[in-house]
Amino acid sequence: MNLVVVSNRVARGKANEPMTGGLAAALLPVVEKSGAIWVGSSGRVRDGLHKEPFAEIESLGAGALALLDLPAAHYGGYYEGFANSALWPALHSRSDLIRVSADDYRSYREVNAFMARALLRFNKPDTAFWVQDYHFLALGAELRELGVTGPIGFFLHTPWPERGVVESVPRHRELIEAMLAYDLVGFQTEQDREHFLSYVRAELELAVQDDVVLSQHGRTRFSVFPIGIDAEKFAQNAAKAVTHPDVSRLRRSLNGERLAIGVDRLDYSKGLLNRITAFDRLWTEHPQFLRSVSLLQIATPSRGSIEAYGNLQNEVAKRVSDVNGRHGEVDWTPIRYLNKGFGQGVLAGLYRTAQVGVVTPLHDGMNLVAKEYVAAQNPADPGVLVLSKFAGAANELDTALLVNPHDIDGMARTIVTALSMPLPERRMRYEAMMEKLSGHSIQQWFADFVGALQDSQSSKVVAEPLLADSRSLWTLRASHGRARYH
Ligand code: F6P
Repeated sequence: MNLVVVSNRVARGKANEPMTGGLAAALLPVVEKSGAIWVGSSGRVRDGLHKEPFAEIESLGAGALALLDLPAAHYGGYYEGFANSALWPALHSRSDLIRVSADDYRSYREVNAFMARALLRFNKPDTAFWVQDYHFLALGAELRELGVTGPIGFFLHTPWPERGVVESVPRHRELIEAMLAYDLVGFQTEQDREHFLSYVRAELELAVQDDVVLSQHGRTRFSVFPIGIDAEKFAQNAAKAVTHPDVSRLRRSLNGERLAIGVDRLDYSKGLLNRITAFDRLWTEHPQFLRSVSLLQIATPSRGSIEAYGNLQNEVAKRVSDVNGRHGEVDWTPIRYLNKGFGQGVLAGLYRTAQVGVVTPLHDGMNLVAKEYVAAQNPADPGVLVLSKFAGAANELDTALLVNPHDIDGMARTIVTALSMPLPERRMRYEAMMEKLSGHSIQQWFADFVGALQDSQSSKVVAEPLLADSRSLWTLRASHGRARYH
């Protein structure tokens, strides 16, 4: 099989380059090894006059990386507009932040159609396409329109919210009907899949049988594939990183003081304001932790031209400065606040230096920082993970200290518990989490999805209609493996 992976953001195979977002960092090592072609945005735009849309095609491990300049006229409406000012807020249950126009939707669809046309160059008889994330919900349907009949899969890295929230997205029905052109749709958690299927049943009035939906596009399977990391490799990197200059400097600067660490994109889904308020509460209610525990918060700026993000950047900076102003001393800063990204190697060393990892999003598809923090720990003296129960990772990392990020007092109390936890309990929790991480590696995730995508086509035969009501009777026949109705 000739695999083509598609995502908006891609990563280059350069060691220790800072990377924004979990998707690109997670995919890089597995895509490199698989020999797949990885297609994504170059981050640049150009007008529509050029015949050849690819800016660069370079080798990436055993495969290739193909970077596409997206159309200038539609990029803003697609990326800042529909993808990140309608879909992202809704997917993270923040319908109140939806700000889009009909033009933004048009641009989103134009970019999806543009990507589909560009992908035809890689379409061979044995090609399978694997589309990543909410930027390309309609890409499968566009590929089918262009006559692609091979397997097309989709994986959503974010949560999928309840039906009422989905209905707050303009043109939601069209988009979700378009998603039924995929052969396989993967989610991070069982709850995400359930939310999606309940929309399909109620809004599209389609029946779901054994997690399969038959629609005018044919048959789509909905499955759960929680994304993982290469925990062993991350652990090795963390052990090596102690000699990295940034890590050594951090260690020296601590002077025996203990450290909590948070690493996030600067996004309203990450619960940064609540987290900082919880640390404020900790130092106010438990003054014994003044000067003895500090927080290193790395917050990489993201999507800054969108109003909600600009506002958040200001609010977080203000709250940090307020807390530092009240609790700081001439020789002690409670919160070290950094607005820049770090390479994976350095991050591993920073995680290992911290006795507490705080991963407290309000909503998160998986949150690989939680997994990386655990994997980076020294097995003989591991730190403690404080994890939001609203991160997908909480399903697997259930021996972390789970918190409700809306409960500030509860979070402050849990940080105290983490700081006071005896070594045997820390080790017991760490070992249980490492066992889960080793059992669900990123390699396994990749192989499971690709295997299921292959099966989704080979199992395609004449199928009975599965409409919830019997208003129309469809006859389905296999056409190059893809069931179609006529
Ligand atoms: O769904 C998660 C994700 O793809 C992450 O990789 C990243 O956090 C985000 O969405 C995309 O961010 P950006 O807009 O910076 O590419």
